[in-house]
Amino acid sequence: MTILCTDRDKLEIFLKSNLKEKRYIHSLGVETMAVKLAKLHGADVEKAAFAGRYHDLAKCMTEEELNRIIRLYGISDEYMNNQALSHSKVAEALLRYEFGVTDEDTLAAVSGHTTGRRGMSLLEEIIYVADAIEDNRSYKELKTLQKQAETDLDGACLFIMDYTIDLINSKGRSLDRDTSEARDYISERIARSTNDK
Ligand SMILES: [Fe+2]
Ligand SMILES: [Fe+2]
Repeated sequence: MTILCTDRDKLEIFLKSNLKEKRYIHSLGVETMAVKLAKLHGADVEKAAFAGRYHDLAKCMTEEELNRIIRLYGISDEYMNNQALSHSKVAEALLRYEFGVTDEDTLAAVSGHTTGRRGMSLLEEIIYVADAIEDNRSYKELKTLQKQAETDLDGACLFIMDYTIDLINSKGRSLDRDTSEARDYISERIARSTNDK
């Protein structure tokens, strides 16, 4: 068993006291789905459970609190006043600096759960997908996507990325670089594996 966190009890108290009930239930849902996907696709189950459970650690913080932690840990300025993206970077910093998490793949999965990134690992992809398809989500394509993710993780991931990009565009918001690069990366990988067949 890997020691992912030096003080798990303290982290658990922090999670519960920082998340609203709905967000806590979502976190447990992501943990469950991440474990399922990790078993199916051969990723580290313990890391998937941990990253799934704690990925939204900072989601319910105020923008002021997020900005304070961004400054404290020297996180890039581009995340200032951007709760949608900063909560994942702040969660990574808290896990790393406050709770002694050292496993880089686990930290990257938390840090990238909102956007993905070019070169994302299997664990990163699992957390990105699990975040979108855990059982407490409700949208038309949920059951189909859950089924697809069991056998075609890249396909499910690309669908979620396209859906997210469409949503960002429809709101007139600018698309961050990691999201568009992650989308290209997964789509190129699918094209390569199709050509190989
Ligand atoms: Fe999140
Ligand atoms: Fe989430």
